[in-house]
Amino acid sequence: MTEPLRITDLILRDAHQSLIATRMRTEHMLPACKDLDSQPYWSLEMWGGATFDSCIRFCGEDPWERLRKLREALPNSKMQMLLRGQNILGYRHYADDIVDKFVERAVANGMDVFRIFDALNDIRNLQQAFKSVKKHGGHVQGALSYTISPVHTLEFWKEMAAGLAKMGADSICIKDMAGLLMPQETKPLVRAIKDASGLPVQLHCHYTSGLASVCYWEAIHEGVDGVDTDISSFSTGTAHPPTETVVGMLRDTGRDPGFDLKVLTDIAVYFRNVRVDHYSDFESAFSGVNPNVLVFQIPGGMISNLANQLKQQKALDKMDEVLAEVPRVREDFGYVPLVTPSSQIVGSQAVFNVLGGERYKMVTEETKNYFKGMYGKPPGPVNEDVRKKVIGDEEFITCRPADKLEPEWEKLKDEYGDIAESDEDILTIALFPQAGREFIEKRKAGTLAPVLPKKMEEPKPDAAKPAPAEAAAPAPVGPVQFKVTVNRKPYDVVVEATGEVAAISPSGDPAPSAASNPSPVATGTEIKAPVLGKILKILKNIGDAVEENEPIFVLEAMKMENDVVSPIAGKVLSINVSDGQDVEPGDLLAVVG
Ligand code: CO
Repeated sequence: MTEPLRITDLILRDAHQSLIATRMRTEHMLPACKDLDSQPYWSLEMWGGATFDSCIRFCGEDPWERLRKLREALPNSKMQMLLRGQNILGYRHYADDIVDKFVERAVANGMDVFRIFDALNDIRNLQQAFKSVKKHGGHVQGALSYTISPVHTLEFWKEMAAGLAKMGADSICIKDMAGLLMPQETKPLVRAIKDASGLPVQLHCHYTSGLASVCYWEAIHEGVDGVDTDISSFSTGTAHPPTETVVGMLRDTGRDPGFDLKVLTDIAVYFRNVRVDHYSDFESAFSGVNPNVLVFQIPGGMISNLANQLKQQKALDKMDEVLAEVPRVREDFGYVPLVTPSSQIVGSQAVFNVLGGERYKMVTEETKNYFKGMYGKPPGPVNEDVRKKVIGDEEFITCRPADKLEPEWEKLKDEYGDIAESDEDILTIALFPQAGREFIEKRKAGTLAPVLPKKMEEPKPDAAKPAPAEAAAPAPVGPVQFKVTVNRKPYDVVVEATGEVAAISPSGDPAPSAASNPSPVATGTEIKAPVLGKILKILKNIGDAVEENEPIFVLEAMKMENDVVSPIAGKVLSINVSDGQDVEPGDLLAVVG
């Protein structure tokens, strides 16, 4: 293989998403664009993933405006985005016409390459995005969400890669978002996917375990067509191998596309200064290699999230049990890869299984939808006993989930037409109903401003009025150490915050029993909040009859919706909370009798 290696630099998207909580603002990207644009990158990833969400929530920026500005600043480069198939960039399945509209607007604003993935690797969820990207003239890169399990064999990946090729992919990406790929497995995997698809293959590895550069070396020797890198000052840790390192690997191989190391050094120095001067408060407390991922096969970011969730629930002492529960839940779910949004669904369900005192006693809305088939086809067979417990006799679907969705675009246009000023605005609100609407209202009012941690507020006129509701930015917390036992072997685990969780309570006393423990009192049976959260809906009135296990409240906790059910059949005697109220574990919610 003597073709130049295709190098995609992730500095403008995944690098800062992985290292500084997706906070890099366009003003800090633009000064480097001339140098980036002068180098023979195959593409520059600069949009999608969490950047869209972060733009409207934290950066005070219109994501579409970022796209247009970068397009102008990078006239010679291919711009690339990460698209979550039928989820687009949001957290639910959208109707086909919304996927099409989004892709149309992205291409119209300058996007070239669409890397498209599905958390379950159900390629039916990629079908519409593929069709739309081809129709509107972009490059379709179909991604395999890499994971390890008994069902994820080479055969599985070959079949998927062949399926993506058949659906019209222009190239394939092996997306190792958790940094699970081992050097020993790299060559056979790359070979299998190249052979099965007949397409160029790009490798995307996170550096978390420290093995990614070695995997790249192996892949390059097996003739991989491209790899993803970060300019060195935003590389390694939970991000990716450094660009300069990979260029170094290519010396004398005939595959260096002709990078100028002097220019790469200038780019690296520029971004090092940006990182230190503007974003140090978004850094994780520990940024080196984290071998936990090799022990637990759980992405590093997800371990931090679990720790933060438990901390919020004042149940950090349950970390050991939760880490043991995650693989069991994943098995029940048919070995789903742990990537957005499935990592959140599996993680929260594992937390509830532990805190609830009984597995699947508390079930999130998302878990129910998963078992109903609303996210697509699980990679392997699900645990049917768990399905029965989660959805009872309710039917589940086996078709492509979006086939159940009516076209949405005209409806959204009617609904948001008064506030939106463009089709792009409508899409912003469609993807993030609350944050998107708030963003557009603030933009109209001229009060947009980046949200910064208090101690690093910059003396800039447009930062003078931080939004009151969001002024409290996440405070990075120091590392937390656990003793964890896996297969009877003890491990010391250090977990650090990612800066992604908005409210972190100082590590308090261990929770009293966080389990829902209805204790009979004179007047009836008390229902207490099982976990910390917010009352989203009150489904019953005082005097209503309830069945055993009938939901009385919907409680939002850890970004998931959960039913709180009556432990007995009877009548609602009192409701002790109001709509929207924040509750802590053990707070009295209602009495039934
Ligand atoms: Co990534």
